[in-house]
Amino acid sequence: MKRPRKPKELENQPGKYDERNTLNDLDGRSWLLLTKSFWESETSQIDKSAFAHPAPFMVKDIEKLISLFTKRGMTVLDPFVGSGTTIIAANNIGRSCIGIDLNEKYEELYRQRTQGLDILPTSLYIVGDSNIILDHLDAEVDYIVTSPPYHNILRNKAKGTRNNNGKNYRMSARDGVEYYSENNNDLGNFEEYADFLDAFKSIMAKAYRKLRNKKYATVIISDFTINKKEVCVQADIVRLMQEIGFTFAGTTVLIQPVKPLYPFGYPYAYKINHHHQNLITFRKSEDE
Ligand SMILES: C[S@@+](CC[C@H](N)C(=O)[O-])C[C@H]1O[C@@H](n2cnc3c(N)ncnc32)[C@H](O)[C@@H]1O
Repeated sequence: MKRPRKPKELENQPGKYDERNTLNDLDGRSWLLLTKSFWESETSQIDKSAFAHPAPFMVKDIEKLISLFTKRGMTVLDPFVGSGTTIIAANNIGRSCIGIDLNEKYEELYRQRTQGLDILPTSLYIVGDSNIILDHLDAEVDYIVTSPPYHNILRNKAKGTRNNNGKNYRMSARDGVEYYSENNNDLGNFEEYADFLDAFKSIMAKAYRKLRNKKYATVIISDFTINKKEVCVQADIVRLMQEIGFTFAGTTVLIQPVKPLYPFGYPYAYKINHHHQNLITFRKSEDE
């Protein structure tokens, strides 16, 4: 009987690769481990180069997602790519990525971060409003992973990038005000929460049309506090993604163990410290 052929990078790994696997290049054991509903966020050296962005992903976390939802050679889309972490993570494991961001200073940051890296020529960093770029982008993608601004939380809290003097980047103090931009189409600048949700929905509906059928999309977000009110944004994201046509597939809690604890309501009221992100995954499952 013919033995299933393992992808090259798994040749030295003990788990069994199933040749019927159309989703990814993982062996059964690695696949199973990634279905666990919580992961601990993993940092690596290259994360530090993103410190000038107020809210970057950690490269290793995104590599894990991309390895679960794509095969080598496939294409990922991130319509809010910021410092370019998704492009870097995709590249590290042999996938292309189209990243879009409104703010040209983040493209500059991405260029600095990737100096000396061999980024696949099929990967692109496009500067512009995703709401417009996606109308004209001629591409089909195999996976979407993205994280929008958390409404106007950065304006609201007047907190910006962290200084990089501390040994641990995530525990470092904030350096002062650093909004994403002054652009009116920046989702971080909408006064009303409902307008922020509408703009996000419009972009994700356009991204949905670029996604191949049966493929997945992950939105990374945590609940947040604005004007002392707790906002359950994940519930709204699930609803709007379902309205677009996505099917909800599950939430993975990404634990961020090294964030500082603040005594927000102490000693009068309970106020939560957000120490995790939700990786909310959806599938495009249209009838064929
Ligand atoms: C949470 S950050 C993404 C950070 C990114 N994951 C990283 O690792 O650096 C959200 C990004 O969305 C961008 N943005 C806001 N509105 C946008 C729009 N209409 N089109 C494209 N990008 C937008 C902001 O400039 C910001 O960089």
